[in-house]
Amino acid sequence: MLELFRPEVQALVAYHTPAVPGADKLNENEWPTDLPDAFKQKLAQTLEQEILANRYPSANPERLKAGIADYCGVTPSHVALGNGSDELIRAIITATCVGGQGAVLSAEPTFSMYRILAETFGVPYVGLERRENDFSFDPDTLRDAVRKHHVRVVFLANPNSPTATLLSEQILETLRSLPVITVLDEAYFEFSGFTSVPLIETWPNLIILRTFSKAFRLASFRVGYAIAQSEVAQLLEKVRLPYNLSAISQAAATLAIENRDVLLAEVPALLQGRHRLVESLSPWLRIWPSAANFFYARCPNWDLETLRLALAEQGSLIRVTGGGMRISVGTPAQNQRLIDNFARVLGKASNSN
Ligand SMILES: Cc1ncc(COP(=O)(O)O)c(C=O)c1O
Repeated sequence: MLELFRPEVQALVAYHTPAVPGADKLNENEWPTDLPDAFKQKLAQTLEQEILANRYPSANPERLKAGIADYCGVTPSHVALGNGSDELIRAIITATCVGGQGAVLSAEPTFSMYRILAETFGVPYVGLERRENDFSFDPDTLRDAVRKHHVRVVFLANPNSPTATLLSEQILETLRSLPVITVLDEAYFEFSGFTSVPLIETWPNLIILRTFSKAFRLASFRVGYAIAQSEVAQLLEKVRLPYNLSAISQAAATLAIENRDVLLAEVPALLQGRHRLVESLSPWLRIWPSAANFFYARCPNWDLETLRLALAEQGSLIRVTGGGMRISVGTPAQNQRLIDNFARVLGKASNSN
């Protein structure tokens, strides 16, 4: 029966992270706490008093777009909305490469959805290798790969996941000179403070992706957006599904963007938590500098899967990917438990050696 399904889809490994009830979830780069109570009450009120369950949601949520445009310093015509930025990644591939029109390129290790979505469409995916020491990559290699593989779209997360590193100025300049669509995924912008949005005006082939899933704490509502020149933003709007954002998701994102001062005021404390975690774990782990709400680390002489399982048993979930550990910053209590759990697990091993 499965022979009617494409072999490349059958061969795919679906994106998923295991759930362990009660454990500290430091494996998905989420914000570690729920929305403030007052926000949830306001949302419940909106659901009760304003949203008509029998009606389709707005296909063009103007107030939400206006809020995003104001936040990003652009006009609403530069904004395209997606059901998570994942949907926009798919929309970009649909609008560019589908139908034998060239390849997608990124630099590994990186966010796996660039590859997974390219592969679901049968679009070739090229993964450049990053250098081991700082996860940078060579501009000439990038230029050669674009030419050799007929690359049409380059996806680069900035900062990157899982490595939490930023792109160099040299790579940005190289991208600008290439005949490709460059997608800079700024899912973690609120933590890095670095954006390429101002380049949009003079770089017609640039698309910036952002999300409400991280600093805005709305991962469960699935809202992402793209900023690009108006013509490009309109193209992305054409290939998304007609009612891609549910009414409650629109309401949640509007509430978050209009009250961003309250939500984003907590970012510095989270970054302080990252600083403390890195300082405490540095004697045991090799940790790379981070521009995000997570950090990337390796643990010499340890099999990382064994380490991950041992930490999970103690109640701290982390992600092992790209040959390293990606660890999200949690609440102060979760961070302390992680430090204690590392001490216990690594200490246990040295005792038993
Ligand atoms: C680099 C990057 N882009 C996009 C996403 C997904 O964002 P969204 O929840 O908006 O689909 C993630 C999620 O972890 C990510 O790490």
